[in-house]
Amino acid sequence: MKINKRLTASILLAVSVRAEFDPLRFVDPLIGTNNGGNVFAGATLPYGMAKPVADVNGQNTGGFATDGSGVTGFSAMHDSGTGGNPSLGNFPIMPQICPDDVIDNCNFLVGSRAVNYDNASVKATPGYFGLKLVNGIAAEMTATRHAALYKFNFESALANSSGTKPLILLDLTDLWQSRQNATVSVDESSGRIRANGTFLPSFGAGSYRSFVCVDFAGGSVNDTGIWVNNRAGTVAQDLYVTRGFNNFYLEAGGFVMFDSLSSHTLYARVGVSLVSTEKACQNAEKEIPEPTSDFANIQSAAEKVWREKLSPVSVNATGVSEDFQKIFWSGIYRTMLSPQNYTGENPLWNSDEPYFDSYYCIWDAFRVQYPLLTIVDPNAQSQMVRSLVDIYKHEGWLPDCRMSLCKGWTQGGSNADVVLADAYVKNLTGIDWNLAYDALVNDAENEPLEWSIQGRGGLQSWKNLQYIPYLDFDYLGFGTNSRSISRTVEYAYNDYCVSVVGKGLGKTNLTKYLTRSMNWKNIFKADQTSFINGTDTGFVGFFQPRYLNGTWGFQDPIACSPLTDFCSLTSNPSETFESSVWEYQFYVPHDMSSLITTLGGPDEFISRLDYYYESGIADISNEPVFLSDYSYHYAGRPGLSTKRAHSYIPSSFNTSESGLPGNDDSGAMASFSIFSQLGLFPVAGQNVYLISSPFFESVNITHPETKKTATIRVKNFDPTYTDMYIMNATLDGQTYTKNWIGHEFFLKGQTLELTVGSDETASFWGKGVDDLPPSLSLSAQLLF
Ligand SMILES: *[C@@H]1O[C@H](CO)[C@@H](O)[C@H](O)[C@H]1NC(C)=O
Ligand SMILES: *[C@@H]1O[C@H](CO)[C@@H](O)[C@H](O)[C@H]1NC(C)=O
Ligand SMILES: *[C@@H]1O[C@H](CO)[C@@H](O)[C@H](O)[C@H]1NC(C)=O
Ligand SMILES: *[C@@H]1O[C@H](CO)[C@@H](O)[C@H](O)[C@H]1NC(C)=O
Ligand SMILES: *[C@@H]1O[C@H](CO)[C@@H](O)[C@H](O)[C@H]1NC(C)=O
Ligand SMILES: *[C@@H]1O[C@H](CO)[C@@H](O)[C@H](O)[C@H]1NC(C)=O
Ligand SMILES: *[C@@H]1O[C@H](CO)[C@@H](O)[C@H](O)[C@H]1NC(C)=O
Ligand SMILES: *[C@@H]1O[C@H](CO)[C@@H](O)[C@H](O)[C@H]1NC(C)=O
Ligand SMILES: *[C@@H]1O[C@H](CO)[C@@H](O)[C@H](O)[C@H]1NC(C)=O
Ligand SMILES: *[C@@H]1O[C@H](CO)[C@@H](O)[C@H](O)[C@H]1NC(C)=O
Ligand SMILES: *[C@@H]1O[C@H](CO)[C@@H](O)[C@H](O)[C@H]1NC(C)=O
Ligand SMILES: *[C@@H]1O[C@H](CO)[C@@H](O)[C@H](O)[C@H]1NC(C)=O
Repeated sequence: MKINKRLTASILLAVSVRAEFDPLRFVDPLIGTNNGGNVFAGATLPYGMAKPVADVNGQNTGGFATDGSGVTGFSAMHDSGTGGNPSLGNFPIMPQICPDDVIDNCNFLVGSRAVNYDNASVKATPGYFGLKLVNGIAAEMTATRHAALYKFNFESALANSSGTKPLILLDLTDLWQSRQNATVSVDESSGRIRANGTFLPSFGAGSYRSFVCVDFAGGSVNDTGIWVNNRAGTVAQDLYVTRGFNNFYLEAGGFVMFDSLSSHTLYARVGVSLVSTEKACQNAEKEIPEPTSDFANIQSAAEKVWREKLSPVSVNATGVSEDFQKIFWSGIYRTMLSPQNYTGENPLWNSDEPYFDSYYCIWDAFRVQYPLLTIVDPNAQSQMVRSLVDIYKHEGWLPDCRMSLCKGWTQGGSNADVVLADAYVKNLTGIDWNLAYDALVNDAENEPLEWSIQGRGGLQSWKNLQYIPYLDFDYLGFGTNSRSISRTVEYAYNDYCVSVVGKGLGKTNLTKYLTRSMNWKNIFKADQTSFINGTDTGFVGFFQPRYLNGTWGFQDPIACSPLTDFCSLTSNPSETFESSVWEYQFYVPHDMSSLITTLGGPDEFISRLDYYYESGIADISNEPVFLSDYSYHYAGRPGLSTKRAHSYIPSSFNTSESGLPGNDDSGAMASFSIFSQLGLFPVAGQNVYLISSPFFESVNITHPETKKTATIRVKNFDPTYTDMYIMNATLDGQTYTKNWIGHEFFLKGQTLELTVGSDETASFWGKGVDDLPPSLSLSAQLLF
């Protein structure tokens, strides 16, 4: 072959230009750190256990927020994007300079020690977080798997203070002061602080123990001691606190005071563990051997791991705004903050299986986050599924939510069933499927005594009446006796997922699960109307609560929507969880065809969807909305799903600190925008991705193990998205008219080429009966 020199040069140039593409440039960890996004903004490795950040006294569910509140300390474990109580934040440390070097002049209490930060000083990048407090102390931090390294610079603070000796205190607390009892012990000569304590999970039952080991470098230890309330002493070096009369909470901790700082800088190395104090020290010593010189290396090692994690994906961003790229890459980054890899840190049982934690919660993440990880990090997703199965093996139940070694509250169905089915149909490897199937059958057949933390409630009614009754009579177990409608639709889909795995494994007696998967029909009240402020919406037929005796109760179909009051487990508990009858009416993922018939046919179904969005009933701030956005596919109008996605991105998903419509929920929210931008939307639990047009001219996804590359390419790509409707498509060069595709697309590394245009009604693509995604009752597509 004759090599053309100029061509070679241009290929080399192209290669070097591509080699310089750095996705980290488009990752902004501050997206979603205000307005309730609750995103963790600090330094971490993918799925890392150590997650240092500045903790604030404002929106501190994820530790830090860009809400202008005050910094109360720096702690090394966090969750990301969660709702409810602030999570983790155990054993914060806080640097100060005591006026006139009098220890009691320092502020020890969390209510008095908060210091504002300089807004412009906040810097967050993968593996790094830094800011400057208004008192002049600058803090920077980076992380390894189980340790945090902080660098505190006191230069300008010392210049402005009457004190000369920086002090760092450690507080025996966590972000919501859940500490039950705790011990601190300070080493007088080295300044090492060891602490351990018992805390409560932020959205669950029970308690957990946490351990920390803090070493300092960069200065000489001048004095050490402990503090209780706002008084400190240097004689005692050990302290044990517990909760007293009436759950009385005592603020207390240890401290070290320094002098002779080299370069006005102190380093604090914090090892964390859930096993023991010794393990916390070992983790720190092993992962950060040289605190004074390791910072840059640890930061660049973290960046390298993040680049590698993002490397399976590449996009041609020609013509696409920087903001759209930031939404995309930052989103993928956030999906890998949690679940967290606590392998080797699980004190509850011995196992060679991986142990992941902060499945917070599966109700949020099963829909799109785990399906995303299945594509971009299948090995991690397989480890997470193995961990779920191992939790079943040792605790008897799959979790629905789990954090800090504890069982979290169940929100609806037993949705780990969907996670397992999804892994099964996508052929994730390394999973003990027989054990996994036992776990699924257990969810479907056995009612736990306490179904607020595992399994399902009302199983007797479920089996005998074929729905979850309103005000069920359930003496076999207990939980929040509400959500009869949302539990019915979720249990139905969960049972379908049991049948999917059972079928694949060649199990028998699956008909009952398929039959139960149609139980949603039993709560459909055909003559139910819906009004908004006295005006009839015109739609007839909705899910309604149904009593044990078969007669109907009533819940306004718009109740629990953004037009009314929020409904959660404890606030305003209702027959639908965190969303309305209107929204849950679209949740029959395994038989949308039958649902569409029930609701009056495709045109009526589309009118309902349109009304639901346009009236403000749809709640983009919470996960149940996700699949409904793409439900137009099932009615043969895939372009309308694309149109909806564009109505939310960037209006509800953008690059601002308030750029998320609700809690990010460990990256569940992020995943909605990522899949929308990719042009494929997963139907979790099924081998189905709904095809839409990507926000980029082309997207490549390379399987990290097989290295096969799947490509989605848009012909006539229009970066203004006027031409966003798919007019026709080819798969590996052959005409492709189905509006969905299976996971083989990724495993085989196929190429989907889409031609787009501006007129949805002029397109015939994906609209034919044979083009629709699978539905149980469409005989031509029966999965069985
Ligand atoms: C810092 O940002 C917060 C949140 O946007 C704002 O409330 C506060 O006023 C800002 N502070 C300064 C000094 O600009
Ligand atoms: C600490 O509190 C927990 C939970 O209340 C309790 O189980 C444990 O025994 C206590 N530990 C000590 C050392 O007091
Ligand atoms: C601590 O600092 C004081 C001066 O502020 C000095 O007198 C004392 O010797 C120092 N102690 C140690 C242990 O370095
Ligand atoms: C907790 O801390 C105390 C004081 O340092 C120590 O004696 C005890 O062994 C620690 N517990 C564990 C399990 O590490
Ligand atoms: C990216 O897309 C543009 C516009 O279609 C095209 O000119 C360019 O060659 C593409 N680049 C790559 C690397 O595919
Ligand atoms: C996708 O992969 C193809 C084939 O390797 C390559 O030609 C193309 O430039 C890649 N596109 C992107 C956006 O990386
Ligand atoms: C989780 O941690 C274990 C132990 O450190 C490690 O072997 C495994 O590769 C980690 N998994 C992921 C997905 O990072
Ligand atoms: C199937 O179900 C029937 C009735 O519930 C039961 O008698 C039979 O043992 C089951 N068979 C298997 C293989 O589980
Ligand atoms: C219903 O009417 C009340 C009072 O006029 C108004 O505040 C509210 O926004 C209306 N709600 C809807 C959904 O129209
Ligand atoms: C069914 O039960 C509900 C709730 O207890 C009750 O209000 C209703 O009258 C009963 N209907 C019949 C026909 O028994
Ligand atoms: C796809 O649609 C475009 C625009 O309508 C048309 O030019 C092209 O011929 C079509 N290709 C196929 C394979 O149908
Ligand atoms: C999974 O493996 C089975 C058995 O080899 C195969 O039939 C199926 O097509 C695979 N599924 C995917 C998504 O590749």
